[in-house]
Amino acid sequence: MEISRILDRYPSIPYLREKARRRVPHFAWEYLDSGTGLEKAVSRNRDRLDQVCLTPRFTRGYAAPELKTSLFGRDYAAPFGMAPVGATGMMWPGGEQVLARAAREHGLAYCLSTVACETPETIGPIAGPNGWFQLYPFDDAEAETDLIDRAERAGFEVLVVTVDVPVSSTRERQRRAGLSRDKGGLSRLAQVLARPEWALATARHGAPRFKTIEPYLAKEQGVALSEYVAKRIGRIDHDHLASIRERWKGPLVVKGILAQEDAEDCIKLGMDGIVVSNHGARQFDAAPASIDALARVAPAVRGKITVLFDSGVESGLDIVRALALGADFVLSGRSFIVGIAALGEAGGDVVAHMLKTDLENNMIQLGCSRPGELASCLPQRA
Ligand code: GLV
Repeated sequence: MEISRILDRYPSIPYLREKARRRVPHFAWEYLDSGTGLEKAVSRNRDRLDQVCLTPRFTRGYAAPELKTSLFGRDYAAPFGMAPVGATGMMWPGGEQVLARAAREHGLAYCLSTVACETPETIGPIAGPNGWFQLYPFDDAEAETDLIDRAERAGFEVLVVTVDVPVSSTRERQRRAGLSRDKGGLSRLAQVLARPEWALATARHGAPRFKTIEPYLAKEQGVALSEYVAKRIGRIDHDHLASIRERWKGPLVVKGILAQEDAEDCIKLGMDGIVVSNHGARQFDAAPASIDALARVAPAVRGKITVLFDSGVESGLDIVRALALGADFVLSGRSFIVGIAALGEAGGDVVAHMLKTDLENNMIQLGCSRPGELASCLPQRA
């Protein structure tokens, strides 16, 4: 179906979300949609983004937005890209391939997660120069070094180290849906049978697995996946970050920064960028809204490090808000995953198109031709 016909039915992410919820098994949906605890940080991210108002400047004349953005020495078609999302292939089989292909076609960045269902070797050639790789720190130096080298050999340009998962969060909804157990049992089977389209596509593609980390898990005989993740993945400190900096020669970005002091540490450690993020509100329910952290951190480090932003972004307007508040580049995870969960193969293309046109539309509304002009529309400056 033509994109404009699909957009007639699903003009924005909330419409796609509803469709996605009905198309994937309950456990997959709960994985994608949930936060942790009472999920106050999820609503905080949304509420605080909604409260960022911008004042249009009509008399400046009609703006012709130029979205092309240069980042870490490469040109992207727009100042936003696809954030890393674990288990993407569980939301739609082959989801990593679909999104990497769409990113390349649209000139967007695509970041593959360490805990995605496909390996860097498979996705690197599809994403080409648009590929970034997200690394969870490993408490196993050999595994971590191997993974960094694999990402480099597979052609990934940017390494994104996630620092905000020192421990798995509770994620009550995922747990109730049966996702915390290594074996699904009857409840998960029943959820799959309730979604025949997903079940069929998954049967054709193969069941989702954490293929990238499987070789490291295999070294520790008899250790279950959940135990491996809890024991070996996520812990970080300055020395560990410094060792990753030494190993990875390309652009290196630290994801999960909320405090100005942590951003300053990243500058001292020679990092190229930070992602101001509360992990889509999935880790810590008392975290500040990511957009509030951005408003504090970005002005303090401007000119010293590249600032990226994520968590809760689901429209071109949200991208505009983050750019106005000092982000150089914006990432969205759930929006793209909702796209593939709702529409399969067409999902990446549709969401890329949707966010780009909404971004352009809102920039015209504000009378801004370039992302750098958006700060002039913040109320205190208008
Ligand atoms: C993985 O990064 C997750 O948040 O589930």
